[in-house]
Parts: sequence; structure tokens; C-alpha cells
Amino acid sequence: MRYRLVVRRYKQGWREAEYRAYEVDVDPDTSVLDALEKVSLEQDPTLTFEHACHHGVCGACGMVINGVERLACVTRIGEVARGGVVVVEPLRGFRVVSDLAVDKSRMFSQYALVEPGTLERVDGVVELEKLFDCVECGVCYSACPIANTFPEYLGPSVIALAYRSSKDGKVPAVLDSRRGVWACHAAFECSVRCPVGFKPGETIMKVRRGFLSGKLGVR
Ligand code: SF4
Ligand code: FES
Repeated sequence: MRYRLVVRRYKQGWREAEYRAYEVDVDPDTSVLDALEKVSLEQDPTLTFEHACHHGVCGACGMVINGVERLACVTRIGEVARGGVVVVEPLRGFRVVSDLAVDKSRMFSQYALVEPGTLERVDGVVELEKLFDCVECGVCYSACPIANTFPEYLGPSVIALAYRSSKDGKVPAVLDSRRGVWACHAAFECSVRCPVGFKPGETIMKVRRGFLSGKLGVR
């Protein structure tokens, strides 16, 4: 079947982003990521996007597909196309590096704020330890109306990971601040969009209740 992929393009130095349309003939079961790779291989090698595992584990391929944050590798094109059209845009709330590739250092650097041990430098290269089920895709930042507009906000995944890493009923003090759980407006878009069911929104509410009841402290 023929689909029209409309991709938001942006390269460093461009004055503004633009949308380019590509026609692709693929099966409806084809993933949006595979369709993008087909475009890259057959039509436009300058198209930039991130991927690695191709099965929903590495978190690299988060993007906004027809207005909704998803992992492109586990999203079937036939299920999301509207009238044969699929609009693909980079995640919101992150700096665009090139086309669909964004700089997620805003999220990764905050892991160090809540759990300094999760960031280590080995021969000058930052290594990240994988935490729980979160695939660090950044989808929750993109979907969250606060993370989108308040860059200092720790963000859903970081708060949830800090809580799950808590010891002796204590969490990092930064969670009890305007950058932490009190910034959340309880939209719950993070939990709705999270591709692995991590439910960061529910965890944020749990932390708030813990602070208000005195059952949770800070260290
Ligand atoms: S909490 Fe979910 S949406 Fe957020 S980074 Fe982790 S896996 Fe992605
Ligand atoms: S390529 Fe790894 S999650 Fe999509």
C-alpha cells in the first residue's frame, strides 16, 4: 500500500524547519521506523533519525507520529496513518540536532541530580546505567505540558526513577522543590504515552502524598 510520510526536517544552520513529503510503498504492518529507513535508503540519505534495537528496548526511536509520542519501531504504519498520511516530527521539549534526532542530554543530565551514582565517566565517555524498566526514550518529556515549557523541571522519568531508587524512606531533596514533584500539573500524559507502562505520573502523586503525610523524607 502507498503511504505519504510527511517529515519535519531541520538541519543546523537552517533559518527554520520545513516539512517534506515522501511516498513509500509498504505493507500496513511495516513499522514507521522501517518506512523511514526505506525513505533514507531509496530516496533521501540526508534524512536523520535515531534507532538501534528495532524492538522497543533501546528507547532511541521516540518521535511524534501524527501528533502522538510513540516508539517508531513498534508503531505499525497502517494503524496510525490517516487517509494514508503519516506526519512524523521530533520529540517536543528537546533541542533538535538534525531532523528527527534530538539532544536528550537535558534528561540524562538530571539523572545525575537525583542519583549521582548513575552517571560515571569512563575514559571521558559518560556511561549510563540502565534503571528499572524505563527505556529512557524521552517520550514522557515530550508528552508532558510542563516538561515542554519549564526546562528546569526534573521531568517524569527522573522523578519516578529517583523514587524507585529511594532508600530508608528518603528521596533526593530536589524532588521536594519547584523543580520537582510540585511542578507537575497532573496531566498524566507521561503515563498515557510511556511505551513500557512505567507510569511516572502515578509515582509523582505517590511522592507528593508521601511528603504531605510525612511518610517520605528527603536526604
Ligand atoms: S518513563 Fe516511560 S516515557 Fe519516560 S523515558 Fe522512561 S520509558 Fe520513556
Ligand atoms: S529502535 Fe530501539 S526502541 Fe525503537
